[in-house]
Amino acid sequence: MKKILVTGGSGYIGSHTLVDLIENGFEVISADNNSRSTPSMLLGVEKITGKKIKNYKVDLCNYDETRAIFEENIDITGVIHFAAFKAVGESVEKPMLYFQNNLSSLINVLRCIEEFKTPYFVFSSSCTVYGNPDAIPVTEVTPRKNAESPYGLTKQMGEQMIEAFAAANSSTNSILLRYFNPAGAHPTGLIGELPIDKPQNLTPILTQSAIGKMSGFTVFGDDYDTRDGSCIRDFIHVCDLANAHTKAIQFLLAKKNNSSCEVFNLGSGNGVSVLEAIKSFEDSTGIKLNYKIGGRRPGDVIAIYANNEKARDILEWTPKFSLDEIMTSAWKWEQLLEKMPVHLELRTFKLN
Ligand code: WQD
Repeated sequence: MKKILVTGGSGYIGSHTLVDLIENGFEVISADNNSRSTPSMLLGVEKITGKKIKNYKVDLCNYDETRAIFEENIDITGVIHFAAFKAVGESVEKPMLYFQNNLSSLINVLRCIEEFKTPYFVFSSSCTVYGNPDAIPVTEVTPRKNAESPYGLTKQMGEQMIEAFAAANSSTNSILLRYFNPAGAHPTGLIGELPIDKPQNLTPILTQSAIGKMSGFTVFGDDYDTRDGSCIRDFIHVCDLANAHTKAIQFLLAKKNNSSCEVFNLGSGNGVSVLEAIKSFEDSTGIKLNYKIGGRRPGDVIAIYANNEKARDILEWTPKFSLDEIMTSAWKWEQLLEKMPVHLELRTFKLN
């Protein structure tokens, strides 16, 4: 079996990707220091797949610790690099924390891939690299505009570093995957999104409002130049996102890539407004949400959604989950979370 190292394996997208890789016949190992995740998420992966996951609890910002993983696993065929901080608001308050963590860890992983000549590398990028696009839907050749946050800047810089790395290292072929708005949870409800402290992203805010963890929430603006005045986003189910990573590795294994660094948009291809997303949650769960309309949130992109034809055609990837299924799976996870104390230590987690 081909061995894949997943960094950030205890995280939201990382854990779902471990499941998809295992279900597609790959051997997996994880590297996660649990600075922003809980080891118990791997218990959920084990329950779903029946496979015990080996996690290296190392700080990827420490080169020697990172290198030791590669030295112990010289048969690593590919690396999927999720490990990074991703809170847009926190990145504005603490830019140096984000540059240090997100870029140092990427540099160390790339240095090891170079030394050990790891054949394949997949990078967790983001639609934030597009900034506020002039035209939507965005394609992979839509220019990268100024990032709206230091977090987005680390993704842009990461992409540029990998492009330069790929040009200089023909022994490794890379793929950049630009996620739109990841949401939802595995249909079993055994793994899902675990916001640290207060959730920042819309979907966990909806589910925490529905279950009563939050008394309600604010829609950040309904006076934008969109069909209903609220922002437009492209919500993609985390299981669809996970499967795209498996498809990316399989694409590289089959040597179908035309260049040593390919980029793909991973979105549903459907632009949905914030108010439409709220209505989807209410209609699909039967729960009326308590929210008010408030002012715009600084840094918000007005409207963005993906042209995902390249990933569909070339990676042979097909998103399967609807917006309603995103919402119902997120709601199921929120309800089960109450019954899984193992995950709850993260609820009390305070950002350092
Ligand atoms: C979505 C919409 C808010 C909360 C995220 C990540 C980014 C990238 C893309 C990975 C916005 C509105 C939200 C609330 C609201 N993912 N909203 N009330 O900003 O699109 O970006 O996904 O790289 O890193 O941050 O996601 O969920 O914060 O906001 O009205 O209480 O919901 O204004 O229009 P965003 P989000």
